[in-house]
Amino acid sequence: MKICVVGTGYVGLVSGVCFSDIGNSVTCIDIDERKIERMKMGESPIYEPGLDELMKKNINEGRLHFSTDLAEGMEGADAVYIAVGTPPKENGEANLAFVDKVAEQIGENLKDYKVIVTKSTVPVGTGKRVKAIIEKAAGHSNFDIASNPEFLREGSAIKDTMNMERAVIGVESAKAEALLKELHAPFNTTIVTADVETAEMIKYAANAFLATKISFINEIANICELVGADVTKVAEGMGHDNRIGSAFLNAGIGYGGSCFPKDTSALVSIAKQAGYDFKIVRDVEYVNKLQRFKIVDKLLEAYDNNIANKKIAVLGLAFKPNTDDMRDAPSIEIIEELQKHGAHPVGYDPVAAENAKKVINNLKTADSVEEAIQNADAILLLTDWDEIKNLDVAKAGKALNEKIMIDGRNVFDPGFMENQGFYYASIGRKTVNGKRVTS
Ligand code: UDX
Repeated sequence: MKICVVGTGYVGLVSGVCFSDIGNSVTCIDIDERKIERMKMGESPIYEPGLDELMKKNINEGRLHFSTDLAEGMEGADAVYIAVGTPPKENGEANLAFVDKVAEQIGENLKDYKVIVTKSTVPVGTGKRVKAIIEKAAGHSNFDIASNPEFLREGSAIKDTMNMERAVIGVESAKAEALLKELHAPFNTTIVTADVETAEMIKYAANAFLATKISFINEIANICELVGADVTKVAEGMGHDNRIGSAFLNAGIGYGGSCFPKDTSALVSIAKQAGYDFKIVRDVEYVNKLQRFKIVDKLLEAYDNNIANKKIAVLGLAFKPNTDDMRDAPSIEIIEELQKHGAHPVGYDPVAAENAKKVINNLKTADSVEEAIQNADAILLLTDWDEIKNLDVAKAGKALNEKIMIDGRNVFDPGFMENQGFYYASIGRKTVNGKRVTS
């Protein structure tokens, strides 16, 4: 099959590469010439484990192409995927300007029947809107629209796509359904077929539900702290119930990234426009905002409310491990809050430091964990990269001015930290008031 994918962000690029890897001829289109040149050489513009290798393999085997020319990409294509960004507007609504523009250009170049598929997360009703735009620009309706939302996670995007748990296909014709089913057959997955609006809704409902799980366990964690319970055990006990499941029950500093914050607020907006107040998801967002600051409160508590001039080693900046993505990373507001209190945060991240500097004013970064913690007055653990999880705590204790760690990801065992002589606070577990040791 021949596929054209427009937009080479996370979703577009990973989907395009995976479609080529299962045997299709894929052309990925982007307006950014420099990016296209890099990708032609097999170089991924985003940090995603395994992506470069898979790109190179499929380029070398002649199935994966890159171009800035949409007409060239659409030539002979069976399906054209729209995978451009839908960034949030000030009011939380998704901005559809890029989608509209691409739809118009697709219409202008549409000579023969194709299925035009939206992969970007778009408000319910966008399929219809895309259809109207294409029809107007093409002057005919020899095409079908479809929705095929994406469920990949950054950091495990290739694995998530190649082993997808389900494919959701929103269609309005049997022809489009057959084509998209054929395209997805090699993934050996469950295919959920629906109308276009329902497919669009599935994506929002799935993301909002996962975000709800996170805010729910974070609130349970906050209550655990008040009543002396341990949230990790609570989550374990809950998770064995198949109806609940153990995934996404890790309490922490709240969710960030390019999807959950954007999609929850877009869904609240979609509901509002339809005349419905989506109270649960509004609260999910509210709880998530507050959760980021809990970790700063805990640090203030350790220092009797005064962290002025304290050097704070902030370990992990990206919103989660295995990505350099800083979009809506909790670290941004946490570091700004530390700065407001007069502290001197020094950030370390295996790959996101450069991106972090672009979005956090006056951010000092270190090139290694060791450099960040040397003579620091406390560690704030924000992202559970393997490298950070494998921290040599005894060694770290010697490098620190004060053995204080506030662990936003519940990486370490409180009993172990107590034995190491640390003041150790985490999320929803007991705080260890170890002796402060000044080295
Ligand atoms: C998410 C969805 O999982 C994916 O299906 C969708 O297509 C895009 O959005 P992603 O944003 O890449 O993927 O990351 P994910 O692994 O879902 O984590 C999102 C955020 O939630 C991170 O900030 C993570 O730290 C946080 N999280 C996740 C928790 O705080 N606790 C958890 O138990 C799980």
